[in-house]
Amino acid sequence: MAIIQFPKDLKWGTATASYQIEGAAHEDGRGLSIWDTFSRTPGKVYNGDNGDIACDSYHRYEEDIALMKDLGITTYRFSVAWPRIFPNGTGEVNQAGLDFYHRFVDALVEAGIEPMCTLYHWDLPQALQDKGGWDNRETIDAFVNYSEVMFKEFEGKIDNWITFNEPWCSSFLSNFIGAHAPGHTDLQLATNVAHHLLVAHGKAVQKFRELGIKGQIGYAPNVEWNEPYSNKQEDIDACKRASAFFIEWFFDPVFKGSYPQFMIDWFEKKGVKVPVLDGDLEIINQPIDFLGINYYTGSVGRYKENEGLFDHERVDRGYEKTDIGWNIYPDGFYNVLKYISDNYGQIPIYITENGSCYNDEPQQDGKVHDYGRLNYLRQHLTALNRAIESGVNIKGYMTWSLLDNFEWAEGYKMRFGIVHVNYRTLERTPKESYYWYKKFLENKWFEV
Ligand code: BGC
Repeated sequence: MAIIQFPKDLKWGTATASYQIEGAAHEDGRGLSIWDTFSRTPGKVYNGDNGDIACDSYHRYEEDIALMKDLGITTYRFSVAWPRIFPNGTGEVNQAGLDFYHRFVDALVEAGIEPMCTLYHWDLPQALQDKGGWDNRETIDAFVNYSEVMFKEFEGKIDNWITFNEPWCSSFLSNFIGAHAPGHTDLQLATNVAHHLLVAHGKAVQKFRELGIKGQIGYAPNVEWNEPYSNKQEDIDACKRASAFFIEWFFDPVFKGSYPQFMIDWFEKKGVKVPVLDGDLEIINQPIDFLGINYYTGSVGRYKENEGLFDHERVDRGYEKTDIGWNIYPDGFYNVLKYISDNYGQIPIYITENGSCYNDEPQQDGKVHDYGRLNYLRQHLTALNRAIESGVNIKGYMTWSLLDNFEWAEGYKMRFGIVHVNYRTLERTPKESYYWYKKFLENKWFEV
């Protein structure tokens, strides 16, 4: 038996996102988002599911906060639905939307839990998408305007801000792979979107500084680890490209003020250019206070001519998988954190998402025996502990997710919560992983 012990001063929490949990899609003046549209487009979301009701957290947030309090977390990461604040993306502020987040944040703080607020977790107002969405630079200004309203309104209540959740997903997954809203399949378009998201991030950070808002601001890219199958240079290079799609592409402009040249060259071979205007890279290259990291999975891969975008294929070495089919790869978590720390310095890092999909249902004893999730959690916390012991500047960890929720293109089929949600009755049932995490949070150590 070995003891895995964590430093006492880390922040511990759970994470969710507005469209995935709130429901109340047509209440209190909320405008439509691209996910309302996408989920109503036949064939895009499993079972035709949508976020109209979701977990109904818009009405049940007190119950959710009670669960968080009982769990013993210090921090809760949630996102704001932009279409609740600006139903049309810009123009008149919707006071009822602001009021909801005031009620919610007040209740959270009252429960002794610190809010960490993501401004953009994918629910772009549909009205902006109708004008080109993130391909149109006017959306950048609309985002900065929305951010400014939020900063001013919640200064003193919210100290932790995240501009963008997983810009890779809102750009390449949504506009090249086409799996998420708005569902396009155009690499140049996706590249434009990725760049504009980064410019919007930089401008929002500039605005935050200019207004002198108290607190800290960062962003939350998702990363994967791609381990080369062999030490052949072509395998190493293929994996480097596959990883850089998540890491260097979204980190270098922010931390170094440039895009990685080997990726620019690769994209150019595909006929794609980054639409950089004068001054963009300086804007993106704003110092940030922390880096959010979302990590779920990784794999081993190697070179294969004409395979995918990067001449890279995955080699399944027989890893166990979660119910969504993703490899369980805790070593990748450690490796990617070390890699980021070695290449981007000692920036404070919060793990803003890490978690697993297991679709366990309550059993006759009333319990949800999600031992797969519990093991995943234990394995990834051990990897996190290794990273801390190796000098990575980890400041906190937020598991995805507090609740089972609307899992985007997978609808309600895939469950990531440590609390089970019955989508018919909306009843919440804490799972075994919840109780394990709760016990861990009391002690900050566990045995392996
Ligand atoms: C997203 C979450 C999502 C989770 C599991 C992340 O990509 O930020 O919204 O539910 O992964 O797929």
